[in-house]
Amino acid sequence: MGTKIIGTGSYVPKKVVSNTQLESIMDTSDEWIKTRTGITQRYISEEEDTSVLCGKAAMNALEKTGIDPKELGFIIVATMTPDYSSPSTACLVQEYIGAGSVMAFDINAACSGFVYALSVADKLLATGDFRYGLVLGGETMSKIIDWSDRSTAVLFGDGAGSILLEKSSDHAMLLQEDIHADGSRNKALTASKQTLKNPFSSNAKKVCTTDLQMEGRAIFDFALRNVSHSIKKVTEMASIDFSEVTTIICHQANVRILQGIAKKLKLPIEQFATNISQYGNTSAASIPILLNEWIEKEQLTLGSGERIILTGFGGGLTWGSLLIEL
Ligand code: ACO
Repeated sequence: MGTKIIGTGSYVPKKVVSNTQLESIMDTSDEWIKTRTGITQRYISEEEDTSVLCGKAAMNALEKTGIDPKELGFIIVATMTPDYSSPSTACLVQEYIGAGSVMAFDINAACSGFVYALSVADKLLATGDFRYGLVLGGETMSKIIDWSDRSTAVLFGDGAGSILLEKSSDHAMLLQEDIHADGSRNKALTASKQTLKNPFSSNAKKVCTTDLQMEGRAIFDFALRNVSHSIKKVTEMASIDFSEVTTIICHQANVRILQGIAKKLKLPIEQFATNISQYGNTSAASIPILLNEWIEKEQLTLGSGERIILTGFGGGLTWGSLLIEL
């Protein structure tokens, strides 16, 4: 038993914030942001939290396929910016879309979250007693950013993307996977630290920052090294050549990272899909938003048998690649 992707969706908040608008609230420039990152604008949520962005991205995929939310077997949300620690964002999505009392849980692997979630969903569907599974990546990065820190504030955006999976007896979506974490490098990217503040703790009076903090250059170097290796590894494990891979959908963190990976793998940059210019880094949402966009633009087609690679990397540190067949 395998799985197949039968629908995709996405949703971003209405408010667009351009680099020029950021110039008016911090010491930065459109030129710096564009040349260092490739970003020209991002969507920022004024009212909608992660569960609402995910709920709307879920409905987008469900409406396209005509599947009733009550037919879903499970809901998984990849996010590092949940509405709450509890309930999970997936439980809130379940209520929002009117699914039945199906299994619903979150996965946090930062910007690799969607790759982790799709891998788990594939195995759940293939072995469990479910017909459909909904996998979401959604973030409101704007709520964990220090808006006075120009080195991180200009990078991120909000949004959500979704994939609807169906169990299949004649199609195996997941051909190979290579997924990792290196917890010894946990300090390279941290956010939303929850401090012990009980009356017995010596931390009680300490003020810890909860804003996102990142060693940008270290992550840049890690991404070039580990992500290139991971992309190559899934093709080697499947004994296929890169010419048999239509498109590489990499987490959208920085266009220079994509260019660096392409160079390292000696691949044309055109083989890498990109939309970072319009969205910024939406963490776990970047891969499903981009996949949905490429399908809507008919650059990729569900059911075509095309092979693509989805690759994520981020806090943890975490990284991973999935070689999948559409
Ligand atoms: N506007 C203007 N100047 C800036 C800005 C800004 N927004 N931000 C930093 N600068 C300045 C710095 O102060 C520094 O000035 P100095 O030379 O006088 O000290 C200069 O620009 C260069 O800064 P660097 O940090 O060296 O710039 P770099 O070229 O490395 O780009 C960046 C920084 C964009 C963060 C890059 O390192 C990067 O993209 N790293 C990867 C980030 C990433 O992938 N995160 C992924 C995971 S996200 C997740 O998991 C949630």
